[in-house]
Amino acid sequence: MTEYIINGKNRLSGKLKLQGSKNASLPVLAATLLTRSKCVIHNCPDLSDVRQSLNILTALGCDCTYEDNTAVIDSTNAFGTEINEQLMCAMRSSIIFLGAILSANGKATVSRPGGCELGPRPIDLHLSSLRKMGAEIFDFYGKLECSAKNGLIGCEIVLPIASVGATENIILASVLAKGKTVIRNAAKEPEISDLADFLNSCGANIKGVGGVTITIHGVERLHGAEFSVQPDRIVASTYLCATAVTGGELTLCEVKPSHLMPVLPYYTAVGCKMKIGESEIKLTAPNRLNSTGTIVTGEYPGFPTDAQPLFVAMSSVSKGASVFEEKIFNSRYRYIDGLNKLGADISVHDSVAVVKGVPTLYGANVEATDLRGGAAMIIGGLCAKDRTKIIDMGHIARGYENITENLVSIGAEIKVQET
Ligand code: EPZ
Repeated sequence: MTEYIINGKNRLSGKLKLQGSKNASLPVLAATLLTRSKCVIHNCPDLSDVRQSLNILTALGCDCTYEDNTAVIDSTNAFGTEINEQLMCAMRSSIIFLGAILSANGKATVSRPGGCELGPRPIDLHLSSLRKMGAEIFDFYGKLECSAKNGLIGCEIVLPIASVGATENIILASVLAKGKTVIRNAAKEPEISDLADFLNSCGANIKGVGGVTITIHGVERLHGAEFSVQPDRIVASTYLCATAVTGGELTLCEVKPSHLMPVLPYYTAVGCKMKIGESEIKLTAPNRLNSTGTIVTGEYPGFPTDAQPLFVAMSSVSKGASVFEEKIFNSRYRYIDGLNKLGADISVHDSVAVVKGVPTLYGANVEATDLRGGAAMIIGGLCAKDRTKIIDMGHIARGYENITENLVSIGAEIKVQET
């Protein structure tokens, strides 16, 4: 178990280089399976989810090395088709490997990635899409036996929900399929553009990513490539919220401001001065923030659900009331008990959270309920008087590289200890 100990109320100030994106790295790593070659992936953040992905690739027969944020994967002999239960459960998003294994090796055996702290994480859209492409999938009490003896066939797929993972799995399954695949109501998150850019650099033919309709023309084979993963837009929001809540000033470097367009206006709304450069963002916060007003999460380019816990924590000490409506996941408020234990005044009514700003929070012992809930606890601890201890079962390390070192470098009093 990991404990984060924070002595709050320090004003954060300084400069940080942003890490690579977890949610872009994972599908790109899965995609290396399709190349049967050597791929070099730069700016891959050192996270437990990335390490688990490399463990899965190794189990499938890849030769993998990882050093200084660069992963080198040789999938020449990656003929494996099974991800065992232990590996599947170690990383909730391991379902992203299904389309790649099926496409590369004609069959795949994976277990259902159970629910998580955000509630049930159904994969019905992943499975129905692969079945439409000709896969046979049998569900033996949680173990999925999938096969596509004659290969996968391109077709038109209309997603009732613009699911990020389902869009990624269909892309992974269709780049080597026979014929054309059209995805309608595709997810538009920037991480999907990285997957398409990487695959196209390997010889795939993917068009329309970032829009509602993606078209993939299957090709015979792919070759290896060298690629650099985009910066992590949610980690960017994390450090911006952490700085804003302490009345501080932060320059974030190696960021893609266009990926943060859905959230940047809210920093201005709460009273921060924002300077947006080509690849950096400078935030200067007032002593006390205004309320955010009403924020409703949605599919990109809507307000990202992953930033919701971060903004709720930031608004807990603002002037006035802020209202949040969570429209993507149905139980993404479990972390709010922790914020209220720190002295916040937040009430939840179904998918709506009402935050009444209080002058300050007070240190206490709290728990990280999930990845972004854990980040919300850190933001709460940074603006709480005295000492906050966050007990974490490994959630924060899944998405944040060197978070304590980074926060200390801009003036926070935070340390981490394993117990
Ligand atoms: C991705 O999860 C991200 N994870 C999540 O980030 C992010 O919150 C989410 O997209 C939304 O942006 C990764 O990229 C690894 P979805 P994913 O499929 O793909 C429903 C983080 O903090 N749905 O877009 O699982 C689903 O229940 C994580 O880094 C179905 O009903 O999200 C949800 O309500 C948390 N059936 C909605 O769609 C399906 O088959 C959106 O889910 C699939 C999804």
